[in-house]
Amino acid sequence: IECVGIYRGYQGLIEGDFEDLSARSVRNIINRGGTFLKSARSQEFKTKEGRAKAHAQLVKNQIDALVLIGGDGTFTGGMLFNEEYNAPILGIPGTIDNDIDGTMYTLGYDTALNTVVDAIDRIRDTASSHDRLFFIEVMGRDCGHIALNAGLGAGAEEILIPEANRGLEQLLESLERSRKTGKSSSIVVVAEGDKTGKSVFQLAEYVEENLPNYDIRVSVLGHMQRGGAPTCFDRVLASRMGVKAVESLMEGKSNYMVGMIKDEIVITPIIDAIKGKSSVDSELMRVCEIMST
Ligand code: F6P
Repeated sequence: IECVGIYRGYQGLIEGDFEDLSARSVRNIINRGGTFLKSARSQEFKTKEGRAKAHAQLVKNQIDALVLIGGDGTFTGGMLFNEEYNAPILGIPGTIDNDIDGTMYTLGYDTALNTVVDAIDRIRDTASSHDRLFFIEVMGRDCGHIALNAGLGAGAEEILIPEANRGLEQLLESLERSRKTGKSSSIVVVAEGDKTGKSVFQLAEYVEENLPNYDIRVSVLGHMQRGGAPTCFDRVLASRMGVKAVESLMEGKSNYMVGMIKDEIVITPIIDAIKGKSSVDSELMRVCEIMST
């Protein structure tokens, strides 16, 4: 099998921005974050004309199949392309948000979790030394996996996620209760997409107005969550998923996504993987509640 690297995702596919890769092309990168193939959000691929150009490049370069690494958007575009041109596709879930069904873990999620926990641990030093309440915003535009798991792992007192909007009153009550039971510092982890209707800064202001005893600070972790050396878990997962993707294509499979379920690498129809978009575990939410009292 010959392997071709496509730079900048679908945009590079449209432009024919390719490079022949060998096993040596990926030497010394297992420990690095980011991608040497780069990434782009291609508006052109969303158009019929763009996809026609992409297909012409596949034919010209005799590329028989595509391995797509990405999330919801990547897979939706891939399925459309497959429908129009019958080009075999196999997906690998790569997003720190973990919001894809058909796998318990997406690539990058574990690394992001560990980065977030490390960051919260460091912030906690200030929170406890200065008796402060910190609002820490973590990524997760539409889902709370990072907030929930990193929040639990870092011992956050409150976790706000889009899947469970407990309301502002309950947040105040709970913070007030913590104060009364002797907690002098607290960490509130807020997922980017939480549904309180307030930004993390507005949330902090709101709490400051209602609970003036708290000395409040805000920290937005931002894109530092998406970088850095991958954890061993992510390195092993990526290797296993890559092998499964290529072997599945060789078996003639198409329109599937590789995933890990109960430590087994399996494939799921892409349509099912993006349909459900993985909901958060209610048992985990219950554990968080117990642990934060
Ligand atoms: O990949 C999804 C995500 O990590 C979201 O959680 C976050 O909102 C978004 O990416 C940020 O994307 P961008 O770098 O384009 O601002």
